[in-house]
Amino acid sequence: MSGIEIIGTGRYVPEFIADNDKFSEFLDTSDEWIFPRTGIKQRHISADKPNYYMGCEAAKDALKNAGISAEDVDLIIVSTCTPDFFYPAMSCLIQKNIGAKNASCFDVNSACTGFITAVDIAHKFLAADKYKTVLVVASEKLSSQQDYTDRASCILFGDAAGAVVLRRSEKLFSSFMGAEGDEFEALYCKVHYESNCPFFKDEDEFYNNRFDTFAKKNYLVQDGKAVYKFAVNAMSNAVNTVSKACGVSPEELDLVIPHQANLRIIAKATELLGISPEKVYTNIEHMGNVSSACIPVALDELNKAGKITSGLKLCMVGFGAGLTYGSIIMEV
Ligand code: COA
Repeated sequence: MSGIEIIGTGRYVPEFIADNDKFSEFLDTSDEWIFPRTGIKQRHISADKPNYYMGCEAAKDALKNAGISAEDVDLIIVSTCTPDFFYPAMSCLIQKNIGAKNASCFDVNSACTGFITAVDIAHKFLAADKYKTVLVVASEKLSSQQDYTDRASCILFGDAAGAVVLRRSEKLFSSFMGAEGDEFEALYCKVHYESNCPFFKDEDEFYNNRFDTFAKKNYLVQDGKAVYKFAVNAMSNAVNTVSKACGVSPEELDLVIPHQANLRIIAKATELLGISPEKVYTNIEHMGNVSSACIPVALDELNKAGKITSGLKLCMVGFGAGLTYGSIIMEV
């Protein structure tokens, strides 16, 4: 099967910066606790702009970088687990706002693994010659789902969007995706519905207590230690699996862009894989965890710095709520 070419990258990062000291103003925490355990110094937070605005800005940046117009886009796939609307899909809002009137649209949600999922789907459409140009956007506003009294979680997350424009190529592409739904309670955000359905008197009982243990409404809830343990294994398994499938060993990779959840997770997984740390790109120190936007934001940082060169063997690997995980090895 053929591969894909990244013809443009883009990103949007909100202006407002919340460094670790800002969290000490309202939480019993400190830079001395956060940085050594996570690798995070600061994260960006979108105060006034909705998630789809960030996605539009990243999309426009990627189209400009690709040198094509929005009307050239045949398909928009958006990855988000923090949408502004249950429906329509965010891809439809982006289509309208950037003027991609010829594009089909849908969203995917595999949480932090979402960019890998979206690119893998894009690859299938491109390889089948169904579409010529696919825009993949990963846009996340994690600040909207944080309980800012939960110091073990809220310090990890930020807001941002990244985008890529993809076309078919004859270069190497291999992917792997996995999920462990049994483990979903390790990381979730339950929707809280307000309802005036007349058929059930006890609204709370009918709509909200069907999962008794899920106390927090519309907030991210996680078992940090369980996620940590899962993530190290998931990352190394995902890379090993795709590496075997395409015959490129982890040592032969030129560049690895991992999901940016925790610097210690990244370090441990790359050590297990035998990949030298200088090949592994991280931006968690200044971005925090921006879920599925982590990888495309990093990709754009590297691309704009001239570091995504033709022929490079690139590995992207993600994991997140689900629990899901996935990886791609491709020749750029
Ligand atoms: N500041 C200060 N103290 C904190 C703190 C903070 N921000 N967060 C937790 N603590 C405290 C806890 O209350 C606990 O105190 P206690 O021992 O007095 O009860 C202590 O630090 C240890 O807490 P624990 O939750 O066991 O810490 P940890 O070493 O597991 O680190 C994480 C917490 C969240 C940093 C870590 O588990 C992690 O990164 N997990 C992965 C999460 C993740 O990446 N999620 C997204 C995946 S896509």
